Amino acid sequence: MKTKFFLGLIFLFFLPIFFAFTLGQIPEAPASSPTLENTGVSLRQLAEQRGIQIGAAVNTYPLKSDRTYQQLLAREFNVVVPENAMKFELVHPQQDRFNFQEMDEIIAFAETHQMEFRHHPLVWDEQLPAWLVRGDFSRAELMDILKKHIQTIVKRYRGKVKTIDVVNEGVARDGTLRDTLWLRGIGPEYIDLSFIWAHEADPEAKLFFNEFSAEEMGAKSNAVYDLVQGLQQRGVPIHGVGLQMHKALNNQPKIEEIAQNVARLGELGLEVQITEMDIAIPEVAGADFSQQLQEQAKIYGDSVKMCVAAKNCTAIIFWGFSDRYTWMTSLIGQGGNPLIFDKFFRPKPAYTAVKEALKQ
Ligand code: G3I
Repeated sequence: MKTKFFLGLIFLFFLPIFFAFTLGQIPEAPASSPTLENTGVSLRQLAEQRGIQIGAAVNTYPLKSDRTYQQLLAREFNVVVPENAMKFELVHPQQDRFNFQEMDEIIAFAETHQMEFRHHPLVWDEQLPAWLVRGDFSRAELMDILKKHIQTIVKRYRGKVKTIDVVNEGVARDGTLRDTLWLRGIGPEYIDLSFIWAHEADPEAKLFFNEFSAEEMGAKSNAVYDLVQGLQQRGVPIHGVGLQMHKALNNQPKIEEIAQNVARLGELGLEVQITEMDIAIPEVAGADFSQQLQEQAKIYGDSVKMCVAAKNCTAIIFWGFSDRYTWMTSLIGQGGNPLIFDKFFRPKPAYTAVKEALKQ
């Protein structure tokens, strides 16, 4: 009886640890922060010399708890983007209540380290709170909710935040407008209205339309092009397009096509920013990992070179910076090792490739 009881206790003790490992929440080695390697001149210094921004999405958990994470973030980057802190469900959890705690913490960090903070995303169809999804609101009510959401956030940080992803992922793969709560409830004009309301709240801020899988030429990027041109023709304030660049070794970016896409957006007078870059390494049995790291580095280097060479490409932002904290582990369950520092904050070949590209 006693033995069973103790075995049960041991099982209960190890169960959460097992799940944490399975879900990839804990890297294989002890969580102690290693000392940072001295890598000489930082990406941030090089980018600043070039007049380009270099940034990373920020995960609030390590920002509060991991000293090495904080040091490396401040040393290498001059822009931070909240990976989740500004998602609707977190920042606006109840209809009449906002929660700015996590955003305030990230902005305080950015200010301390003279970094810019990019709003992401004001309007999206994911991570929406139950009160909104199940609300059964009329069109007029939804418009009020969206306007209040946009303007409360933008006004609170007016003057501190210079760049805003206003509408995120509004276009579907086939080039039609994505079927979202906002499209269904308000109609296609929700996009115009979002930009207009953001501009009213902060006329100085640069407003971006941010999209995934719209990097290369094709149906989706054509639709994004038409959409932003339409905004301009209607006199709606828009200043740029964010190309996310979530790619992988088995889904490599076609750099020449991306350069072509960036250039045509430039002809509209728009900036382009690479807003969420990561390059996943798929788990392939028998693959040579060091070879895969070199392939990954080449893609990072070529992408950064492309941006540096394009006059209207003004920022390169990675969706995180250390493989220790990546959405690929927490959301998809596969590590992917998609970033430029490894799980122990050591620079990967991709880091060196980004650095070399910034030097050219
Ligand atoms: O924090 C909660 C936790 O309290 C809860 O118990 C748990 C159970 O579901 O969820 C946790 O929240 C998750 C959050 O990530 C933090 O880990 C959400 O469910 C999960 O949906 C969320 O995923 C984020 C995803 O956007 C959806 O918002 C990813 O971290 C984030 O990297 C990802 O970022 C997006 C960009 O914003 C837009 N472009 C694509 C990109 C990658 O998907």
